[in-house]
Amino acid sequence: MVPKWMWTSIFLLPVALCAYTIDDSSGLGRTYDGIGGISGGGATSRLLVNYAEPYRSQILDYLFKPNFGASLQIFKVEIGGDAQSTDGTESSHMHNSNPKDANYDRGYEWWLMKEAKKRNPDIKLYGLPWAFPKWVGNGTSDPYHNPDVLAGYILNWIKGAKSHHNLTIDYIGIWNERPYNPTYIKLLRKSLDSEGLQNVQIIAADNLQFISISILEDQELAKAIQKIGVHYPGTEVTQQTIQTGKPIWASEDYSTNNNEIGGGCWARILNQNYVNGNMTSTISWNLIASYYDALPYTRDGLMTAIEPWSGHYEVTSPIWGAAHTTQFTEIGWKYFKHGAGAAHLDKGGSYVSLTDGKGNLTIVIETMSHDHSKCIRPGLPPYNVSAQTASFTIKGSLASKITSLNVWYTKLTFDSSTPTYFEKKPAIKVSQGSFSLDLQLDEIYTLSTVTTAQKGSYPASPASAPFPVPYQDNFDSYPIHSEANNFADQSGVYEIHQANDPDHKLAMRQMIPDYPIIRCIPADPNLTVSYIGNHNWKDATFSIDSMIEVNGGVFIAFRVTKGGCQTKNAEGVYFWVNTNGTFTVTSDIGHKDVITKGMSSVPVAKWFTLKLQVEGTQATGYLNGKQAFNTKIPGTPKNGFIAIGTTDFSTQYWFDNFSVTKAS
Ligand SMILES: *[C@@H]1O[C@H](CO)[C@@H](O)[C@H](O)[C@H]1NC(C)=O
Ligand SMILES: *[C@@H]1O[C@H](CO)[C@@H](O)[C@H](O)[C@H]1NC(C)=O
Ligand SMILES: *[C@@H]1O[C@H](CO)[C@@H](O)[C@H](O)[C@H]1NC(C)=O
Ligand SMILES: *[C@@H]1O[C@H](CO)[C@@H](O)[C@H](O)[C@H]1NC(C)=O
Ligand SMILES: *[C@@H]1O[C@H](CO)[C@@H](O)[C@H](O)[C@H]1NC(C)=O
Ligand SMILES: *[C@@H]1O[C@H](CO)[C@@H](O)[C@H](O)[C@H]1NC(C)=O
Ligand SMILES: *[C@@H]1O[C@H](CO)[C@@H](O)[C@H](O)[C@H]1NC(C)=O
Repeated sequence: MVPKWMWTSIFLLPVALCAYTIDDSSGLGRTYDGIGGISGGGATSRLLVNYAEPYRSQILDYLFKPNFGASLQIFKVEIGGDAQSTDGTESSHMHNSNPKDANYDRGYEWWLMKEAKKRNPDIKLYGLPWAFPKWVGNGTSDPYHNPDVLAGYILNWIKGAKSHHNLTIDYIGIWNERPYNPTYIKLLRKSLDSEGLQNVQIIAADNLQFISISILEDQELAKAIQKIGVHYPGTEVTQQTIQTGKPIWASEDYSTNNNEIGGGCWARILNQNYVNGNMTSTISWNLIASYYDALPYTRDGLMTAIEPWSGHYEVTSPIWGAAHTTQFTEIGWKYFKHGAGAAHLDKGGSYVSLTDGKGNLTIVIETMSHDHSKCIRPGLPPYNVSAQTASFTIKGSLASKITSLNVWYTKLTFDSSTPTYFEKKPAIKVSQGSFSLDLQLDEIYTLSTVTTAQKGSYPASPASAPFPVPYQDNFDSYPIHSEANNFADQSGVYEIHQANDPDHKLAMRQMIPDYPIIRCIPADPNLTVSYIGNHNWKDATFSIDSMIEVNGGVFIAFRVTKGGCQTKNAEGVYFWVNTNGTFTVTSDIGHKDVITKGMSSVPVAKWFTLKLQVEGTQATGYLNGKQAFNTKIPGTPKNGFIAIGTTDFSTQYWFDNFSVTKAS
């Protein structure tokens, strides 16, 4: 016979375990700092800027417009550093040390920040460098070589944002995922304060959590830093990081393909970064996957927009995962304390609760299963989730005030069934502070008093289409300093400038004078190169005009295999011409595997035309319309990008009249 106490433990305990309280009677937890996205780090929004209206504005609405889509609360951008920063290079505001050459119209991050602010004036802006122009290190590869120089460079960017674009920068970082330098951080704080920029908060160090140890040991450093920003924390932080007493952010996280598993990763970390790691902000790398699919970290953005030529874009599950929190909170709300509104659910999953302290309550619940919510990094320890009934009781100051909660629902699916994204369900009745909810796997629920949430939508974007052929661009219709459509710089930076030649009005010019302070492993190539086209193309015929002001070499290439930090190791068919009167054909960017070579007559300071035709195992190159070579080439690689480039870093190189006549 079973004693009575055992019945109690068998039947009552499981029910008791699945009950949760939301209670502010012993105070509230940490302040909520917002959810955000990163553009750059690098060149991740490259193709977005080239979208035609109305699609471009629609995409921006899905990202930034309040009560519409992701409704982001923080927007973090790369401070362009003229070097490869993952999926391309971004232009620095100071290619050289001459303040007169500083420019605040380069690249697309200024434009994107303004578009974000236009939609949400309350969005917070955060700048972080990934790399630096060489002069910042005074010829060394150390950006901290002279901390004054670096602080001046960063302050110029912050002040330029204000004076040229009326943008107020809220947060500034140190050096993405690279060493920090305490002397520099303290100097940066001092410089900001003395220039009236006390409101710009320093986030350090956008890396692992070692900065916490430095903060605990150095009071002046502790004072200089306002928030700790850690990357890919796997929802957990170190004891030292907690001990600093500072707000902790996952200042870069997610980085997972935006399929349903990516949506699961994002939903899980948005809750559990607080539940497990006391983190009060999570920022997605990246904001939007707007770089060619064949570049590294394919589609690791909240949504995808990689076809400016067709207007096609995809609104994916992470957009709605963000909406589940952002549309029901504001920066400055408070999380409830752990165990009193934030916890794991007994049968897997988690919930967090937040309040504005004025009577509003938002509860976000997620039940992401292990295999459906793995992020790219770090590894996810095993755990189980099963269907469960969760009973909640509101206690404390909100207990008697809340009689009903609005319900928004997402179900990610991993079979042929249709997912549900951010759907409004009938409100749930709260009686005497209590309600319960049946939870299945891979769901997100938001329960909230907030009434303003909306699922924004536009008609489906145009059908997907491959890169168009034939393709032509004479670069004459761009603003000065902008970048030509669809070119994805992988080393160096190409900008549109006045060519001062009757046949070449505006042209593309390589703008970086020196090999920069890089962050790539293995390294950036010691030359500049930009990619365009469809990586799946096997055969192509294309041409471009070029001009070399003094002396040097340029190249065009096809079937180029890889970009990002692997650009240096790319293969393909490369046609190099030099003002010293030679040409070479190689099957690698490293110029090691020479297929053929010969004499050419590339003029100095005069425009000439390069053309390359690759079909099967045959390649033919033309210089000014005359055949330079016709040669057999290796059968591999079979496909890849078109590329143009220069053999060294200098600003003497120009390109115009790009044309692809045939490609398949
Ligand atoms: C830069 O380096 C040169 C020597 O190469 C040195 O004379 C100069 O003082 C340095 N300037 C700064 C600002 O560190
Ligand atoms: C600059 O932005 C602020 C809001 O941050 C706005 O109030 C002001 O009108 C803007 N000034 C100009 C000149 O556009
Ligand atoms: C941090 O999170 C833990 C749970 O992981 C919680 O017990 C603790 O109270 C939190 N501490 C702070 C200071 O937020
Ligand atoms: C809750 O937030 C809304 C804005 O969404 C606001 O209008 C309302 O006054 C707040 N307070 C309560 C108790 O709902
Ligand atoms: C998950 O459930 C399976 C099957 O019941 C069990 O074998 C496994 O140990 C569980 N894993 C964890 C981490 O609880
Ligand atoms: C190159 O483009 C310019 C316009 O920028 C045009 O005038 C010129 O004819 C073109 N040259 C060739 C060789 O196509
Ligand atoms: C790049 O090549 C030039 C010579 O062309 C050389 O002087 C320079 O040291 C090289 N830089 C790097 C980073 O390899």
